[in-house]
Amino acid sequence: MMSTIPVSFRLNGMPQACTVKPETRLSEILRDHLGQSASKTACGIGRCGACTVLKDGVPVNACLVMAWQVGGSDIVSPEGLDAFPETRLVRQGLVEEAAFQCGYCAPGFVVALTALLRENPHADETDIRAALEGNLCRCTGYHSIIRGALRAAGLLLQAHQQAAQAGRPT
Ligand code: FES
Ligand code: FES
Repeated sequence: MMSTIPVSFRLNGMPQACTVKPETRLSEILRDHLGQSASKTACGIGRCGACTVLKDGVPVNACLVMAWQVGGSDIVSPEGLDAFPETRLVRQGLVEEAAFQCGYCAPGFVVALTALLRENPHADETDIRAALEGNLCRCTGYHSIIRGALRAAGLLLQAHQQAAQAGRPT
């Protein structure tokens, strides 16, 4: 019986390879094998979003992705989000609205919001609430997070308008 498998994938644009048990979770691969600790683990059963990463551009709960499902995929952890211009505006909006308290949930929210604004630069409150359905926060009651997300969406629209006026690509 096969006890470990080789897994190769891209993490934040760089090739990675490790040998783990097939049932090892992506959240464990990132944190325990690759030293990427920005994505958090809390529930471990796909209910809280603390472990959210991008898999082939789509937000997923890393605690639900097994090693055998990772091979060949393109993973972006919170450490790799600087590659996306949207992330800077997401962080700015969340900071301006003092969105978080303890911050444990924050990386998952930033990943989910980055994915949303990359997919839909015109995201409104309904879109934002839908995109954040899988992310739980035990501290804030969500109002500040939604305000921060709306602020980020506004900043992104502003950036697109300014770029259009200046004839620059965004
Ligand atoms: Fe993965 Fe909660 S730790 S969803
Ligand atoms: Fe503490 Fe969200 S700020 S869990």
